[in-house]
Amino acid sequence: FMKRRKKWSHYPPGPVSLPFIGTMLYIDFRNPHRSFNQLHKKFGNVFNLQNCWTNLVVLNGYKTVKEALVHRSEDVADRPYFPVYEHLGYGDKSEGKSLGNGHSLLALAQRGLGIVIARYGHVWKELRKFTLSTLRNFGMGKKSLEERVMEEAGFLCSAVSSEEGRPFDLRFLVNNAVCNVICTTIYGERFDYGDETFKKLLHLFENSLNEEAGFLPQLLNVVPILLRIPGVPQKVFQGQKAFMDFIDVLVDKHMETWNPAYIRDFTDVFLKEMEKGKEAEENGFNYNNLRLVTADLFAAGSETTSTTLRWAFLYMLLHPEIQSKVQAEIDKVIGRERSPTMEDQVSMPYTNAVIHEVQRYGDVVPIGLPHMTYRDTKLQGFFIPKGTTIITNLSSVLKDEAVWKKPNEFYPEHFLDANGQFVKPEAFLPFSAGRRACLGEQLARMELFIFFTTLLQKFTFVLPEDQPRPREDGHFALTSSPHPYQVRSVPR
Ligand code: HEM
Repeated sequence: FMKRRKKWSHYPPGPVSLPFIGTMLYIDFRNPHRSFNQLHKKFGNVFNLQNCWTNLVVLNGYKTVKEALVHRSEDVADRPYFPVYEHLGYGDKSEGKSLGNGHSLLALAQRGLGIVIARYGHVWKELRKFTLSTLRNFGMGKKSLEERVMEEAGFLCSAVSSEEGRPFDLRFLVNNAVCNVICTTIYGERFDYGDETFKKLLHLFENSLNEEAGFLPQLLNVVPILLRIPGVPQKVFQGQKAFMDFIDVLVDKHMETWNPAYIRDFTDVFLKEMEKGKEAEENGFNYNNLRLVTADLFAAGSETTSTTLRWAFLYMLLHPEIQSKVQAEIDKVIGRERSPTMEDQVSMPYTNAVIHEVQRYGDVVPIGLPHMTYRDTKLQGFFIPKGTTIITNLSSVLKDEAVWKKPNEFYPEHFLDANGQFVKPEAFLPFSAGRRACLGEQLARMELFIFFTTLLQKFTFVLPEDQPRPREDGHFALTSSPHPYQVRSVPR
């Protein structure tokens, strides 16, 4: 390894690499952002690591991350290959499938990588463009995305109300609400809160995220031969497999009832695209990508948004004066009866600032998703060869001391100017930036605003008596989420 690294001049500095394991011992894989922050102090904004024989470069601070994601967007637009997902069908071949209703379908054995971990190239571009425009135009069903979110916010309020002021953990209801938005979008179906199948799905999903954190998955990714040991992937990634089986059942059920004359949801639009023949097939519209793209939307779109909302309510418990100010603005702009809509956002700078600060301080995806250099490139004067894994330490951007006045405090004023008007500093990058920036940002913003304001319009959230002050540090499993806490909702 040493030889390979030495031949590049101006390669970023980094800790000493040991034979075989490289620098893996320097990283606490249960809290990688903390290890990165320590190495950042020692080696500067750009440093290198080595997971066995995989070269990684970690980028820190707003200036460096912006240079990579915005100014060298294409250079860093690729993704590394993740052998640990092969057992779920990513990158693998799938069986052919045919639709119900006597329709045949060009869905022969096909490779697929969905969107999130897809290599930068034609198929990723097509699938991303299709998904963005389908979510945006929503040529399916009669309801707009906003109406769906508003409707779900109503169900969420009823569920909170039925707790009747008893202490409870908001997490299950909020997860349910957020997942329902994805479910109605993809499958045209929502699940009642308390539905046993849905509870099972949420549980499976939580398990599968936990499985991805830690040392072992990292090791399996860089030494994929270990995945060939019989039973290893099934044992290590039980939750992921069960989650994917669940998605498969939903997709297959959908295909059986498919009718091209009546488009119900995202899955139907995708199936219609698949029917277009060879060209569509070349663009990635095949059965395997249908299951992987829908799994991606679930995986990328539910936990991130519901975790952000859980941070939001936690900060409201810890800062009741901020909660009161948000409620005063809701009363002034929306009143107590009318449901909040996205149009209200522009007239509510304080609430908007609070939501942005929740995202900044909550730091839900602290190390982003791994990128890979698509070609040789230069960052901050360092040479980084093609094929290097790039970690964008988003946490170091959202808490960059050079940008934020009080980086380590919850301080909504970060997003307000001297006249109390909303401003968004450029270093606000919780959704990342550039070519691989979050595809669901618009939907996520809608959910955060509508769920947050609808609940605070109807309830005040307080800490139950005799409960310890909730912890403010996060639990890392790809996302950083609050430790479980209890609330009491007081109707307003
Ligand atoms: C990617 C954050 C909600 C779909 C990402 C990335 C981040 C992120 C940091 C990685 C970008 C990169 O590689 O540089 C968030 C946060 C959310 C959220 C903080 C909520 C508060 C959503 C939602 C959806 C979604 C609601 C879908 C409906 C995706 C997809 C990608 C992605 C598909 C992969 C994009 C690609 O590789 O081209 N998100 N996300 N996200 N997100 Fe989100």
